[in-house]
Amino acid sequence: MLIKNIHIDGKEMANDIRITDGKFTEIGENLNAGPGEELVDGTDCMLLPPMIESHVHLDTCLTAGDPAWNMSGTLFEGIECWAKRKEKLSKEDVKERARRALRMQAANGVQYVRTHVDITDPTLTALEAMTELREEVKDFMTIQIVAFPQEGILSYPNGKELLVKAVEMGADCVGAIPHFEFTREYGVESVNFALELAAKYDRLVDVHCDEIDDEASRGLETVACRALELGLFDKVTASHTTAMHSYNNAYVNRLMRLLKMSRINFVSNPLVNTHLQGRCDTYPKRRGVTRVKELLAEGLNVSFGHDDVFDPWYPLGTGNPRDVVFLGLHVCQMMGYEEILDSYKLVTYNAARTLHLGDSYGIREGNDADCIILNAKNFYQALNEKSSVLYSYKKGKLLYRETPAKGELLFS
Ligand code: FE2
Repeated sequence: MLIKNIHIDGKEMANDIRITDGKFTEIGENLNAGPGEELVDGTDCMLLPPMIESHVHLDTCLTAGDPAWNMSGTLFEGIECWAKRKEKLSKEDVKERARRALRMQAANGVQYVRTHVDITDPTLTALEAMTELREEVKDFMTIQIVAFPQEGILSYPNGKELLVKAVEMGADCVGAIPHFEFTREYGVESVNFALELAAKYDRLVDVHCDEIDDEASRGLETVACRALELGLFDKVTASHTTAMHSYNNAYVNRLMRLLKMSRINFVSNPLVNTHLQGRCDTYPKRRGVTRVKELLAEGLNVSFGHDDVFDPWYPLGTGNPRDVVFLGLHVCQMMGYEEILDSYKLVTYNAARTLHLGDSYGIREGNDADCIILNAKNFYQALNEKSSVLYSYKKGKLLYRETPAKGELLFS
C-alpha cells in the first residue's frame, strides 16, 4: 500500500509512505506505486502513530448514575458511589462495559490503553475480567493493566496482600493512592511498599499521586525519591499530581531538582482534574491541574489522559484524546502556535514513553505499520476543526475508517 502526499507527524512538507507486509518500508518523495498496489490519497491529511490513552479506568467506565449520581462532584463522593457499584460487579459486566469503551477509543484512533483496575476487592473480579479482555482484544488494542488500590493499601483490609496477588495475576504496573490513605505515614509506607513490589517483580509503576487540592499533600517527593533510590527511574509514573498546582513556588523549585534526577513520567488528566478539583474552594477556584508547562520546560515527560469515561468521577466523555488535549491546552495556558502544533505528542510520543513502548512505536521504516490518518494537515487544524480520524491501521490492517460529514450553509 502506498499513502501519497501526507504530512507525517504534521510536518510542513508532505511525503509518501509505503506499507508492505504490515511494516513501514519506505518514506520519501514521489514514490511510484507498484503494479496493483493500493493507493491512498493523503492530500491535506496528517499521518500519526496511534493515539495512546495513558490513563483511564475501564473497570468503572459507563456506570455514571448507577446506583447513584455523584452530586457533589468530588473525588471522594465518587469513591463512595463506586464502592456501592462495586458490590454488584461481575466479570461479564466489567468486560462488556470495558469492551464498549475500547471500541469508542478505537474509533478515535487509540490503539494503546493503560487502564487502572481497582483491586481493593477481595474477589479481584475486575482484575480477572481485564486480564482476560487484554488477551481477547490484543489484535486491535494493546492494554496495560495497573493494579490500582482505589481504597488504599494500608487503609483497606488486606490491601498489601491484594496488591501482591494482583501483580502475580498479571498486572503490568503497580499502583498506589497515598493521598487517600488514612494518614500521611500510611501514604509514605504505601508508596514504599508499591515501588519495592514493582522492583521485586520487574513491573512498571503508576501512582495516583496527590489528587487533591491540599498544598500539604507531598506524595510526589516520596514517589520520586524512591524511584531514584530503587533505580526504577522512568519505569515510574506519577498521575494527577494536582496538589502541585497549589504548592508554593519555593517548594516546587526545590522539588524540581529531585524530579529531574528521578526521571519519572507524569500523566495529567485535564478533563477530570478541572471537574473534580477546586470543589472546596469558594472563589477564586483553583484549576486543579498540575504544572504541565513547567514540567515540560524542565525536560520531564508529561502525557495527557482521559481518566474517566461516564463514571462516578466524570459524567461525560467520548474516549477521544483530542478532546483532552483541547481542554488541557486551555487550562495549562499552552496556546502558543508551536505548542498547539506539537500538542499531539501529549497523546502519542510522550505517552509512548510513559508506557515504555520503546522504538517500536512511531512512524519510521522497519516499524510495524501502526498509524492513523487525521483529516487535517497539522494538529492545529485538527484541534480547531475537531477533525476526525479517517483511517486507523494496525500492522497495515485497517481497523477503522470514517467518511467525513459535509455541512452546507443555505444562506449567503
Ligand atoms: Fe485515575
